Amino acid sequence: MKKTYAVLALTAVSFAAAALVWQSRTQNREDEIKEIRIGIALYRGNDPFINSLRSRLEDKAKEYEQATGIRVVLDTADPKGNQNTQNSQVERFLSLGCDALCVNMVDRSAASYVINKAMDADAPVIFFNREPVEEDMKRWERLYYVGENARESAVLQGGILVSAWREDPRSLDLNGDGRVSYVLLEGESSHQDSLIRTEWSVQTLKDGGVPIERLTGGIANWDRSQASALMGQWLEEFPGEIELVICNNDEMALGAADALERAEEDRPVRIVGIDGTPQGLEGVKKGKLFGTVRCDIGEYAEVIFAIAAAEALGQDVHGQVELMNGIYYECGQEAVTAEDLK
Ligand code: BGC
Repeated sequence: MKKTYAVLALTAVSFAAAALVWQSRTQNREDEIKEIRIGIALYRGNDPFINSLRSRLEDKAKEYEQATGIRVVLDTADPKGNQNTQNSQVERFLSLGCDALCVNMVDRSAASYVINKAMDADAPVIFFNREPVEEDMKRWERLYYVGENARESAVLQGGILVSAWREDPRSLDLNGDGRVSYVLLEGESSHQDSLIRTEWSVQTLKDGGVPIERLTGGIANWDRSQASALMGQWLEEFPGEIELVICNNDEMALGAADALERAEEDRPVRIVGIDGTPQGLEGVKKGKLFGTVRCDIGEYAEVIFAIAAAEALGQDVHGQVELMNGIYYECGQEAVTAEDLK
């Protein structure tokens, strides 16, 4: 929370500073900045988490326009999960003269192409959600990354289950055999969040003394219908055995819930997700999901936008947003159960 306020305060300062820059520049007609242009390259526009971030970014741009009088042109592109398409979209943004790029890489290991083009055009890049490798991030001082700490998400997710176990072991160990039999749904194998979330969710349960037993697991690429299909298979493979479904995100958690509904499962199998998307929180409220980890999406968009706008105006980013190693920003997150949503 403290961090959020710091960012808000800094952003307010940045808006005020931008207003001043604008005011002084309008006095000098030759050097007038009336408009900044920001390109937003998504990895896939129909990803619900990315979609809610996109709409928050649009809100931030409007707030900024109102606060500073500087018009913000946002160009958004959806390459539908294709890296070559995204590369062309980035080139188009640069040819349109974008002052800053916000890039959600399709393939996070392929950032060097985007970086080369941006460096040639002298346009800063704020990567988000899909983290390029460290080596790439160090290539230029105008590269940034905004995301979530994957280990923190997982520890918070595991914490929800450890608390439930301590309160009432039978809420997780449905058949009372002394073990919690779980299945695990993972995001894309190449995404930094999948591996780390999986590892630390399980580790947190072990550290918290929950006696877990893994039945099976699989990759559903963050996707609701893929998760639903996998979960449907597992329910047939392990009839009456699954007690817990650990999911790397809310969409897959909702997919698992769909499969339980389809199978007319009447045992209260617990499902946990991560993200706190509107759909995920609705699922928690309705009792389909046992809990989730809500990412502070407002802060996420605020920081991406603040860095992009400061860079576009040639301001000192580091005086406005506190960055780890001068590059990274981790957004706040919190565990959420139905109890918290009452
Ligand atoms: C989110 C997922 C999302 C993915 C996209 C993850 O951090 O938890 O919901 O699909 O990012 O890259």
